[in-house]
Amino acid sequence: SEISKGTYPYYMLKEIDEQPAVMRRIVDAYLPADGSVTVSADLLTALDQADRLYIVAAGTSYHAGLVGSYLFEQVAGLPTEVHLASEFGYHMPLLSAHPFFLLLSQSGETADSREVLVNVKKQGYPVLTMTNTAGSTLSREADYTMLLHAGPEIAVASTKAYTAQIAVQAVLAKALGLHRNLTAAKALNLRHELSLAAAGMQTLMDEKDQIKNLVGQYFPNQAHAFYIGRGEDYPLSLEAALKLKEVSYVHTEGFAAGELKHGTIALIEEDTPVLAFITDDATAAHTRSNLQETEARGAHTMTIVSEHLAQPTDNIVLPDVAPLLSALVGIVPAQLIAYYAALGKGLDVDKPRNLAKSVTVE
Ligand code: G6P
Repeated sequence: SEISKGTYPYYMLKEIDEQPAVMRRIVDAYLPADGSVTVSADLLTALDQADRLYIVAAGTSYHAGLVGSYLFEQVAGLPTEVHLASEFGYHMPLLSAHPFFLLLSQSGETADSREVLVNVKKQGYPVLTMTNTAGSTLSREADYTMLLHAGPEIAVASTKAYTAQIAVQAVLAKALGLHRNLTAAKALNLRHELSLAAAGMQTLMDEKDQIKNLVGQYFPNQAHAFYIGRGEDYPLSLEAALKLKEVSYVHTEGFAAGELKHGTIALIEEDTPVLAFITDDATAAHTRSNLQETEARGAHTMTIVSEHLAQPTDNIVLPDVAPLLSALVGIVPAQLIAYYAALGKGLDVDKPRNLAKSVTVE
């Protein structure tokens, strides 16, 4: 094929490394210098008539949708729910009067997501897909489509498609918010913020040897681990945990930091790695104290903290970006942690056992 690993040992590392370029491609495709947003007027008109957005997806795309829900609610004022495709297809919740569907799918071929598409189209509801493949099944069958511009993703574990999905959802949220003349949308200089995120991702990539060292210290031979966070750091924790599970086979849970004490903290043992994302001003102190609770029970804690909240003892510092976009930089160290943990075990990073790049059965 025309896609090659070049000098990279694995596609996963190449694709993690491509993320700054993907951010810039999304800027070029959707965000001209005059501050406008290049999104179809028909799509915006249809979306503006909706009273609720239903984001439906699977796997990593579902996690990107959870991050997107904050963008649609806070930048565009659109109430948003996020659902798993495999559940939604057969156990549909009571819908609002004017629902609008967003199917997120890297491949555009996932059977669970296609089932939902066919179902809601049959009921006459408008559907947008965001996929990474022009001409994919979902793109062809939906009313509206937006391309992710991540370029072909070969490694089974999704990396650059996740950050592309967040960025393209931000594009749409900004476009709808401007269409609605909302202050929050006018205040979000997305062209600038995505450029900042690209630079921040690059900074983290340049420090990857430090992350490799941390993996050696935290994951010499661990069977279990946790990622915790609050607010948007919670869905980020879910995706970080999925990455580590998928490629390194370390059993990892993503948890809402404040919920851990209500049962799951019973699982913390001597040296269990607990990794906390701290990017939100309002809850930073709470997350830190949740992390200390695990440390008091023997956990080997690691902090991944936004620069403006960082303290000298923190482990990984994330370059600052707009709070709603913090997952764009936050996920990069977690992708690298998963990569190095798998590499350290001698696993085939690009082709983890039991998984397929796109799952075309329900
Ligand atoms: C598979 C892949 C996951 C992916 C999920 C959804 O399970 O292994 O990495 O997140 O499908 O794929 P999609 O193409 O719909 O985003």
